[in-house]
Amino acid sequence: MHSPETDAPRPLIASASPALSGRVRVPGDKSISHRALMFGALAVGETTISGLLEGEDVLSTAAALRAMGATITRAGDVWRVWGVGVGGLLEPETVLDMGNSGTSTRLLMGLVASHAISATFTGDASLRKRPMARVIEPLSRMGASFVGRSGGRLPLTMTGVVPALPITYRLPVASAQVKSAVLLAGLNAPGHTTVIEPEPTRDHSERMLRGFGADVRVEDTPEGRAITIVGEPELHACTIVVPGDPSSAAFPVVAAAILPGSDVVVENVGLNPTRSGLFAVLQAMGADLTFENAREVGGEPVADIRVKGTSLRGVEAPPELAPTMIDEYPILMVAAALAQGRTVMRGIAELRVKESDRIAVMARGLAACGVAVEELPDGIIVTGSGGDPVPGRPSPVISTTGSP
Ligand code: S3P
Repeated sequence: MHSPETDAPRPLIASASPALSGRVRVPGDKSISHRALMFGALAVGETTISGLLEGEDVLSTAAALRAMGATITRAGDVWRVWGVGVGGLLEPETVLDMGNSGTSTRLLMGLVASHAISATFTGDASLRKRPMARVIEPLSRMGASFVGRSGGRLPLTMTGVVPALPITYRLPVASAQVKSAVLLAGLNAPGHTTVIEPEPTRDHSERMLRGFGADVRVEDTPEGRAITIVGEPELHACTIVVPGDPSSAAFPVVAAAILPGSDVVVENVGLNPTRSGLFAVLQAMGADLTFENAREVGGEPVADIRVKGTSLRGVEAPPELAPTMIDEYPILMVAAALAQGRTVMRGIAELRVKESDRIAVMARGLAACGVAVEELPDGIIVTGSGGDPVPGRPSPVISTTGSP
């Protein structure tokens, strides 16, 4: 662990915990929170949102939307958004600082692309390193123009266009952010904008846009799932209840799953099938999970997850599930460190271009605790302790990535 003031390493002492029991709730879903604010900002009337995640990333989205004309207030636990209508965003007076948030940046770039306004986006040191070419490319095809740093990195200034050209775009990477950016640009484009995704990625945009009154069509084709938005709808204000974030639930779920004797309920967790891959992999590892009180909240499946601690075994995590658990691999690696045998996680090179290189960081962190890890160019293999406490003494990272 590093001290923020000096950046010098500080010792962090961890000791084995007894079995866990109890009921917990996790904060609201981040992806759904961003979208609730954005679609509220484009709707006519007052949208109310409860359960919004009030983390920095979501607050960056709220600030940018205010800068583009939406009125957003908070009273108690309820957020209210008065939208400007589709096509009604105003040019921001100043630079939009997106902090650490890739989702805010990429989705808002989609919105700006089909408005006749210019906007300049920047962010923190991590966000300024992240690839934006993946959204610049399709949004340029729709008519937007960009001046950014090499590789399309932030800070960048973009100018949108009216009318934007509706396109059909096949995603080169499985990314819900890129899919959503194109669909959001398509909201204010005349005609049909289609995104084809080879692997299903989180579909919160599609679900919520329908709830706001947009015509969103989904079709399975030989090339993948084709999602079409019919442009220029009138979005009507909604009441949104944000479910608990499965990415946050993943931590207490794994903590209980790896400690025999535990019995924990994580309440009100969003279980959209495009987000729940971790829970399926944990079950394949032998985890005892049950989904209680299954229900629907705001168009999203939700349940309480009951976890009983047991011993886990290593598995091969199916690469085709990667988009459905992309943010959960680090905690899966922790579960793998306590499982019996090897857990192989491949097809996850995308983790290297997140807020940090999540493969390299986890490989180093686990090895520092004495876990046997092999780092691959597109993944990691973790050999677990079979339930014994990890040694707590460093072991080397075996790396086949080609880098030292
Ligand atoms: C997100 C999509 C994912 C995910 C991110 C949130 C979203 O990113 O990692 O935390 O809300 O659409 P990618 O689209 O880059 O995979």
